[in-house]
Amino acid sequence: MPVLAHLSDIHLGQDHDGDAGARAAARAERVMTYLEQLPGPIDAVLVTGDIADHGLAAEYAEAARILASDRHPVLACPGNHDDRAAFRRDLLGEEASTGPVDRLHELPRLTVLLCDSGIPGRNEGAFGDDTLAWLDAALSRARRDVPAVVAFHHPPVALHSPIPDGIRLRDEQRLAAVVRCHPQVKAVFCGHAHTGAVTRFAGLPLAVAPGVVSTGTLPWEGGSGLAFDHPPMIAFHVLDDDGRLTTHHRVVV
Ligand SMILES: [Fe+2]
Ligand SMILES: [Fe+2]
Repeated sequence: MPVLAHLSDIHLGQDHDGDAGARAAARAERVMTYLEQLPGPIDAVLVTGDIADHGLAAEYAEAARILASDRHPVLACPGNHDDRAAFRRDLLGEEASTGPVDRLHELPRLTVLLCDSGIPGRNEGAFGDDTLAWLDAALSRARRDVPAVVAFHHPPVALHSPIPDGIRLRDEQRLAAVVRCHPQVKAVFCGHAHTGAVTRFAGLPLAVAPGVVSTGTLPWEGGSGLAFDHPPMIAFHVLDDDGRLTTHHRVVV
């Protein structure tokens, strides 16, 4: 059974009370240390965007150091705070270019499709024509007998959390139409909302990662919409042999 760790929204470089990003880096390091020290193996670590707070080269250099692992593949996609060219050059070590960062990872027991749901210069998201066509083609070529999951930053449905709901994925029905054509897709994973949430999309389970740098608060919890006094949290996703998803949430102390 494939097991994934899922973290999101580490926002490296985010200034908190004048700390120049020290708090964000320390929280991301805590999470990665926790995963590095797990007694048992996992298949991969997913990081669903907002890796750098300002899309700066130095923030990606820090991300490359913090997210590096000798134990598991660490698979990342960009979010609305990320910069495609710097993400490619300074995190992935590739040629800088501004096209969408879409990646297929064929792990031994799982196919992971990481998609770029960003719109440069905007906080809301959408699958552009290039990314939708890439996803459809990648799923058509991918192994049919191995389960697949699709991960990206912007949740494609409302989560009843007003701030992220206002900047969620647009035109989600176009994505749903593609995903529905490929029955090996068993789950969809997102970030952006900084709140561990489970719902459904395109007939599939959709799990939103909790935030590492902060936690999105819900209307009935009060506050300004983001809480900085919650600990970092992550999710573990387990896919049964019959394709059923189980998600566990963990506070990282
Ligand atoms: Fe974020
Ligand atoms: Fe975001």
